[in-house]
Amino acid sequence: MRYVIDRMTMADVPRVVEIERLAYPSTWPPSAYRKELQDNRWAHYIVLRDKKIVEGGIPVPAQEPERQRRFFSLPFLLGRSTATVSTPDLASIIGFAGLWLMVDEAHITTIAMHPDFRRRGLGEYMLASLIDIAYSIGARWVTLEVRVSNYSAQNLYRKYGFREAGLRHRYYSDNQEDALIMWTDEINSPAYKQKFQELKAALSHKLGAS
Ligand SMILES: CC(C)(COP(=O)(O)OP(=O)(O)OC[C@H]1O[C@@H](n2cnc3c(N)ncnc32)[C@H](O)[C@@H]1OP(=O)(O)O)[C@@H](O)C(=O)NCCC(=O)NCCS
Repeated sequence: MRYVIDRMTMADVPRVVEIERLAYPSTWPPSAYRKELQDNRWAHYIVLRDKKIVEGGIPVPAQEPERQRRFFSLPFLLGRSTATVSTPDLASIIGFAGLWLMVDEAHITTIAMHPDFRRRGLGEYMLASLIDIAYSIGARWVTLEVRVSNYSAQNLYRKYGFREAGLRHRYYSDNQEDALIMWTDEINSPAYKQKFQELKAALSHKLGAS
């Protein structure tokens, strides 16, 4: 399978920060990610890899047999993220995302795709993976803030059933922009579960063909 979601590790942080700089007007310092991975037991961060990308022209050895990897098979993501093993394939990371669990709410803190890999369904793959994690850790709702001008991201969230629930005025310090607050319905409701399964099936089909 070409696109693979992995748990973010400390070794991934330099590449994550590179992508973040390309994706956001303002960024976290690398130490913030390291702190999240090391100290925040409620945080879950993922990276998306493109297995076709190799570093220095050397094919990246598969980390585990292909047959063990399936879209949306995520139990391996739920361990802690403190590993410091060096990953040889940093260049293969093309996106990252994360959430915090707060009681029964999953708060999406970040989601970003490298600009060269957008509009292929991969941001959606990361969002669906975060929602899968939300289910696995017992969240009942998923929420996030998004810039009022960020229509691409808002469209993505609306596709997955997020609805506007208010504004945080001047939330973003770089330009004083307002944030739209968005929430899903209860993700365990039969209607949401069904919609989510349908979206994931369509996405698996789309990505399986790439
Ligand atoms: C938001 C982001 C992660 C989307 O990633 P992506 O891989 O390009 O998105 P996908 O190809 O998976 O698109 C999924 C859905 O998002 C919406 N979408 C994504 N890009 C869009 C665009 N340029 N215009 C309109 N809708 C868009 C669509 O609803 C799309 O569904 P569709 O393919 O059925 O039309 C990406 O644009 C990004 O990294 N942006 C910068 C960081 C950012 O703003 N993050 C969000 C912070 S709240």
